[in-house]
Amino acid sequence: MANPSLLILPGDGIGPEVMTEVRKVIDWYGTQGFPFDVSEDLVGGAAYDAHGAPLSDETMEKAQQVDAVLLGAVGGPKYDTLDFSVKPERGLLRLRKEMDLFANLRPAQCFDALADFSSLKKDVVAGLDIMIVRELTSGVYFGEPRGIITENNERVGINTQRYTESEIDRVARSAFDLAMKRGKKLCSMEKANVMESGILWRDVVTEVGKDYPEVELTHMYADAGAMQLTRWPKQFDVIVTDNLFGDLLSDLAAMLTGSLGMLPSASLGLPMANGRPKAMYEPVHGSAPDIAGQGKANPIACILSFAMALRYSFDLGTQADQLEAAVEKVLADGLRTADLLGEEGRDPVSTSEMGDAIVAALEDSI
Ligand code: NAI
Ligand code: MG
Repeated sequence: MANPSLLILPGDGIGPEVMTEVRKVIDWYGTQGFPFDVSEDLVGGAAYDAHGAPLSDETMEKAQQVDAVLLGAVGGPKYDTLDFSVKPERGLLRLRKEMDLFANLRPAQCFDALADFSSLKKDVVAGLDIMIVRELTSGVYFGEPRGIITENNERVGINTQRYTESEIDRVARSAFDLAMKRGKKLCSMEKANVMESGILWRDVVTEVGKDYPEVELTHMYADAGAMQLTRWPKQFDVIVTDNLFGDLLSDLAAMLTGSLGMLPSASLGLPMANGRPKAMYEPVHGSAPDIAGQGKANPIACILSFAMALRYSFDLGTQADQLEAAVEKVLADGLRTADLLGEEGRDPVSTSEMGDAIVAALEDSI
């Protein structure tokens, strides 16, 4: 059987720096009997510089063919004055749209060594491991009608929350599938008390749940969910919610655990012919122009994004656990990139020292 294929799009700013460290991890798995066919291409400002577009048609075509895409970050001050249609972010949006990546997975995971870093009490976050599934391609950000109109001599801003049954059904299935690979608990969040789209959401999710009798399904109003996430987040395993609530709740949950430099994500679409979902993995952070080119970037968010690829695209859950354990180990050993030090006076390690230490920890784990 052919090796699984990965398309790497490092992008701009710290994107290429953190991706160099991910390549070390990928190469290490290659030496352990898990080889990947890796190709690399341009996205964002880097692609604009080369082709005059933030994503070429050829790269788009490649992204559709591979088993998974791994993206660094796009954008930077150099491109701020470009026309909207060729801005670096458009490359990212084109990938999401044309691959139809409707399920955005954002884990909030707290490594014990960083529990002090949270704004919440240590015992509230230590050992936290939850996953928010946000619907990414529909809802109020896309619904029609929209716009600013004039009515009775004043301006009116309009957006429409709109969800079809099939849109809810497919993201619910992604969330249930995920719950089956995790703690078999799913909490669906909407506002069925005040929104018809929420009533339909609750209805469809309940219906889909009949196909997953092993998963314990609960429902919560999204505002109550926000409160519960800060009060006692460990009550959750997987949360599924719409685009707008997911935008807020995933940012809230992420920050429970500390630095932007630690946060991975996955965006999944429908299964391809080989059964794997269309998939793109990327850190939550951007191109960090303020630290780019200085060896200061934390590569962990991007490395953990690859761990998600191992788990969700390649069914290599054991290897994903091993990689996450290696990250946990270097943090427990006290290694910190500058973003993880806060006010402490200790010396930070560089991007490449962090990557090397994680590979060394992998080596030690066998
Ligand atoms: P940012 O995430 O790039 O940076 C915010 C702050 O966090 C900065 O101080 C940065 O140094 C720090 N930071 C981010 N990632 C880090 C890492 N791995 N290690 C250490 N520190 C890290 O967000 P910002 O500054 O708002 O945007 C910068 C550029 O990135 C803009 O052009 C923006 O459009 C783009 N961007 C791209 C995204 C993407 O490619 N998915 C997402 C967010 C922003
Ligand atoms: Mg957001």
